[in-house]
Amino acid sequence: MKKLIAILLTASFAMVATAESPSLSPSAPDGLREGGTLGKVGDAPPIAGDPRDVKREVRNYPEQPPVIPHSIRGYQVDKRFNRCLECHSRESAPSAGAPMVSVTHFMDRNFQVRAEVTPGRYFCTQCHVPQTDAEALVESDFKPIDQVIRQGAREDSQ
Ligand code: HEC
Ligand code: HEC
Repeated sequence: MKKLIAILLTASFAMVATAESPSLSPSAPDGLREGGTLGKVGDAPPIAGDPRDVKREVRNYPEQPPVIPHSIRGYQVDKRFNRCLECHSRESAPSAGAPMVSVTHFMDRNFQVRAEVTPGRYFCTQCHVPQTDAEALVESDFKPIDQVIRQGAREDSQ
């Protein structure tokens, strides 16, 4: 009898484990991931191509963090070491031939300009991303500021 119960219990546990849990596959609209596939493990999307021989891009508006025109794969940025500042710091920029981080990167929260890059701007990739050949993840009708101004001027003159 005990053996039978054990077999039945094992079987029912196995059924629970193999049945796809409905809570993991609710129907949902397509987003960045296809709807209703939360319970499935899909293929990882390919890593976007590294920038090679890309030029510095025009910024779309003055406060845009410029995109990075070079690869940053393997660059260490942590509490002890910041690879980016090896080239972009005030001291290193001229010899590295890299643009120095701008004055905003030295300002603390009271807009006081410090000698060192402020902690709020220390982790560069919070704001700067490398240029890649990645497809846009979502549709965007963003227009660069020059286009907005030109369009406004045209409408005014009409
Ligand atoms: C080996 C030196 C070196 C390192 C390390 C380096 N950079 Fe650069 N970076 C450059 C050079 C040189 C340029 C200018 C390229 C050009 O003019 O085409 C540049 C350009 C840039 C620009 C574009 C600036 C603009 O005004 O368009 C950004 C942003 C940038 N780097 C961010 C970073 C970040 C973030 C890191 C660390 C993850 C980093 N860089 C590490 C040398 C370096
Ligand atoms: C909080 C967001 C933020 C962080 C973090 C940040 N930046 Fe920037 N960065 C910006 C913005 C916004 C601009 C453009 C406006 C400006 O200069 O403030 C910029 C401009 C730059 C430029 C162009 C400077 C120029 O005068 O053309 C370089 C180079 C740069 N950043 C490098 C870095 C590096 C290296 C780090 C890490 C040590 C870093 N940034 C961290 C937002 C950030």
